[in-house]
Amino acid sequence: YRNVRVALLGAGSVGSQVARLLLEHGDELASRAGAGLELVGIAVRDVDAPRDVDLPKDLFTTDAQSLILGADIVVELIGGIEPARTLVLQALQSGADVVTGNKALLATHGPELFAAAEQVGAQLYYEAAVAGAIPIIRPLHDSLAGDRIERIMGIVNGTTNFILDLMDREGSTFEAALATATELGYAEADPTADVEGYDAAQKAAILASLAFHTSVPLAAVHREGITAVTIEQVRAARKAGYVVKILATAERLTDADGVEGVSARVYPALVPESHPLASVHGAKNAVFVEAEAAGDLMFYGAGAGGVETASAVLGDLVSAARRHVIGGPGVAESTRSALPVFPIGTVRTRY
Ligand code: HSE
Repeated sequence: YRNVRVALLGAGSVGSQVARLLLEHGDELASRAGAGLELVGIAVRDVDAPRDVDLPKDLFTTDAQSLILGADIVVELIGGIEPARTLVLQALQSGADVVTGNKALLATHGPELFAAAEQVGAQLYYEAAVAGAIPIIRPLHDSLAGDRIERIMGIVNGTTNFILDLMDREGSTFEAALATATELGYAEADPTADVEGYDAAQKAAILASLAFHTSVPLAAVHREGITAVTIEQVRAARKAGYVVKILATAERLTDADGVEGVSARVYPALVPESHPLASVHGAKNAVFVEAEAAGDLMFYGAGAGGVETASAVLGDLVSAARRHVIGGPGVAESTRSALPVFPIGTVRTRY
């Protein structure tokens, strides 16, 4: 294989897992990409900070800019706006493809980043930015590109789903449930972003832009959090056959003048108990899509967590690496390592 050089920016809960999996499964990923994925370095603020994973010390640097210059693919997992924005722009301008999980950056500077990528023919991948491990970006961007989406409703914040679920099923108070969510590592560094719906609003802007092929700015997303939701309301909802869920919704609507447009909002909704979204428990996420031809679809899984989100990042990384193989995507088909297939009846099945 030829090697593609991968620079990682950030080694937090997601970044450190990306590095570990890249080092552990390098050969397998290379066979799928048709190119070796060489981790050339990890840029961090503090080389000696404690990490979730033990990684080779010599990979670390504090010089993100030099690291970017020698890379074919830059993986940005710093989070927040700056310095992430400047570094992503530099990477794109140098012609590197970028993989990011940065929802805040995409929701506020998406058009600027996509324009920068387009200018040099680079690609920006962001499967990890919404709903962690759940494949939802590529399905909206590619698989459903031929359909017409009417509405999209997402449980896209694990922390608030966890809190509401605990209030509903165990009668926990809001405070106790939040403390548990923080302990389990689901909450943002500042949980205000979760409980006031800012995190979900960023994801709503990204999903709405994709689903409706437009650019939905964060400022156009109506936002209500869950801090005012009481146990009594949750109980009363149950009695009436509903579950309280904080939803990120975007739908195609017509205004008073007959103009069709997109409306996006985050709010605590009453979901009928019979709706598939009502059975999304704990910190799990789900995105329910209503499309004209496809009908109803639901994407479900882990929306937060370091190793889970790393799965989405690595998928993007393999896609990006395939672009660097001469002949483009498809070459990887012929370079697959052959995992043996057992003839029928030769092994005990698990069920
Ligand atoms: N704080 C977020 C959540 C993490 O709870 O879903 C993933 O974006």
